[in-house]
Amino acid sequence: MTGSEANETAIKLVAQYWNERNKNAEAGTQQKKDIIISRHSSYHGNTLGALSMSEFPARQDTYKRFLLDKNFVKVSRYYPYRDQGERTDEKYLRDLVDELEKAIQSLGKDRVAAFVFEPVSGAALGCQPAPDAYLQKVKEVCHRNDVLLVYDEVMCGMGRTGYTHAWHYYNEKFVQSDDYPRVKADKSLDYDSVAPDIQIIGKGLGAGLVAAAGVIVGKKVVDTVRSKMGGGEFIHGHTYQSHIGICAGALMVQLTVPPLLPGVRKLSKNIEEVLKALAKHHPNVGNVRGRGFFWGVEFVKNKTSKEPFKEDVAFDLASYGERTFGHDAGPTKVNGVKMCPTLVYPGAWKTTNADGEALAWGHHVIISPAYHLKKNEINTMMLTFLELVNDYFFAKYKASKVDWSNYGQQTRAGKAVS
Ligand SMILES: Cc1ncc(COP(=O)(O)O)c(C=O)c1O
Repeated sequence: MTGSEANETAIKLVAQYWNERNKNAEAGTQQKKDIIISRHSSYHGNTLGALSMSEFPARQDTYKRFLLDKNFVKVSRYYPYRDQGERTDEKYLRDLVDELEKAIQSLGKDRVAAFVFEPVSGAALGCQPAPDAYLQKVKEVCHRNDVLLVYDEVMCGMGRTGYTHAWHYYNEKFVQSDDYPRVKADKSLDYDSVAPDIQIIGKGLGAGLVAAAGVIVGKKVVDTVRSKMGGGEFIHGHTYQSHIGICAGALMVQLTVPPLLPGVRKLSKNIEEVLKALAKHHPNVGNVRGRGFFWGVEFVKNKTSKEPFKEDVAFDLASYGERTFGHDAGPTKVNGVKMCPTLVYPGAWKTTNADGEALAWGHHVIISPAYHLKKNEINTMMLTFLELVNDYFFAKYKASKVDWSNYGQQTRAGKAVS
């Protein structure tokens, strides 16, 4: 199964859950719930339902007429770099949470079935994490209004942020060990304050080796679908669901990954340090954000005004990187380390008016190394990235280069950058 199909599955599970709840409810107390709220600048997949739940114009525009507008409503993204303005963190958060609550009330809590979001945004917004308070507050709103809370962790989950589940970051106490059942059994932890009702997983579940994705379902939802009044089973299926080879592959991956995660958490600090230096010194790096081995770098034309480039600078930089450092440059070995040909994953977000004209946009690249990389490999990778950003913006825009030599590191070419 793919991440898109897992999102479709979650949508159908939400629908069936409310069907069963309606059957169980006294007549009149439960109305039909048929709207899922998701967020602007989000990506949940390329099948029509998951695409409708997303806001990603580059992938949606061609299929607009076939998207399901009536079932999917969007609220604001969490994106302080551009959206917070002069507001304090608390006020910004309160406004987002109030917006969600007002959206539920104006649509009608009898209509809103679920709120879905990525705890750390992926392709659509370049690794933007939401703070723990955001998770807690939106969960309170969902709870108060009888709305299911769904996390799409297809991209940020299964170790990418340094934790098997990205939302476990939100209370470090959850992850003192990677031994999930033991953590869960510890009643003193406020696990429930951020736990979703449904969680969608993919990508890292199979580490790219097997096409694995899935849906983790909370007890409340399982019990309802299994209840006597309900059909007792989830009305959904694919020929290759629970495919034995894929499940075996994913299991092997998940037995292999947890011992690597302390390294991911530790080396994340090296990545963060280099990227923060880049954001401080390079004239075209506006913002860096992320966690673990999952970092986004946003490029701007003007750092003070945050004006974005008109042209798609992230895609251009990535292909420049491939030409310069990757496949076309022949086999590249740096300090004995073989470089991945595609160093970065480019992306962009865009908001448009009713006529499809762009109102605002941003360009970012994602850096997401393999979990087993060692310190020298991460350092080499980051230096290669620094060199790429330096070279690209100098070659294309005559931007000043940053002198990284005081980092005391060897560059890709084996010499200190000057
Ligand atoms: C958050 C999120 N959800 C869903 C998907 C869709 O997954 P897939 O490409 O496996 O269908 C993606 C893919 O990038 C994703 O990042």
